[in-house]
Amino acid sequence: MNADDQFRDRMLSLGLARVSEAAALASARLIGRGDQNAADQAAVDAMRTQLNMLDISGTIAIGEGERDEAPMLYIGESVGTGQGPVVDIALDPLEGTALTAKDMPNALTVIAMGPDGSMLRAPDVYMDKIAIGPGYPTGVVDLDMPPRERVLKLAKAKNCRADEITVCVLERERHVRIIEELRDVGAAIRLISDGDVAAVIHCAEAESTGIDMYMGIGGAPEGVLAAAALRCMGGQMQGRLLFRSDAETGRAERAGIEDLDRVYTRDDLVGGHVIFAATGVTDGSVLRGIRRRGEFLESETILMRSKTGSVRRMFYRTPVDRA
Ligand code: FBP
Repeated sequence: MNADDQFRDRMLSLGLARVSEAAALASARLIGRGDQNAADQAAVDAMRTQLNMLDISGTIAIGEGERDEAPMLYIGESVGTGQGPVVDIALDPLEGTALTAKDMPNALTVIAMGPDGSMLRAPDVYMDKIAIGPGYPTGVVDLDMPPRERVLKLAKAKNCRADEITVCVLERERHVRIIEELRDVGAAIRLISDGDVAAVIHCAEAESTGIDMYMGIGGAPEGVLAAAALRCMGGQMQGRLLFRSDAETGRAERAGIEDLDRVYTRDDLVGGHVIFAATGVTDGSVLRGIRRRGEFLESETILMRSKTGSVRRMFYRTPVDRA
């Protein structure tokens, strides 16, 4: 990469931070208002407006859904001014719509950008996932191990007891057996009601968040976004798509996925170097949410580049009437 490209890459990363900031500020007006659709719509509108100001020839690889279901930011939509590099965009304008509506922790706005073809065009189906942070031998845990074995293997690698491992799991009926098995082996469990992109990010900052491992079934698009974050922060992840109907397998086929049982590693989900930005909407262990202080609004954004391994935390303040 020459000096001009490097400069452009840095500028684009700052632009990406503005995109996630704008979406968070827009949805913050709806925190605690009980209307998750309105919160999501506000984030979508703001994200799209900002994204279209960036000098990129972007295509949405992970977005709000297929064209006929999503009026904006649908998979395959072109975004940006069309003047710059050809890139893929993965986004979730509001990850944790219910968390925002109920004013619960860890709602985020999320966006990642990588070279054309660098991200799996995951259909809107479920994905079975496992993630851990950096510093462990490759393959120390995997999707084919039962939960109990995952805990024992991770504890051995961390040089601690099984009861010193904390696992984050979405609180869902489908996870009852996983939770039982984790309790039997002695692991602590942090149950979350939503937001598994944040949950995976928590694994990469285990010392401050207390989460060693994430496991369970969540959205496949969120799996790709989480993999983008881990490419920047370090850590391992695996995911396998799950299909509940012919309509869902049809979505995978339309997305060009042939092997429906494939286990994707982090780098299968996101290859190439990516830039990742997320802004806190409600307070969480990784990012502070939007705050009003007098006549100003404040936000916190994490901006990361896998190429350089840089992680930047950005504090932003803007007059309320300009947000
Ligand atoms: P939304 O914010 O788009 O509603 O998604 C939140 C989320 O909790 C994701 O983090 C997670 O991957 C998925 O929903 C889980 O799906 P489900 O609620 O169907 O179990």
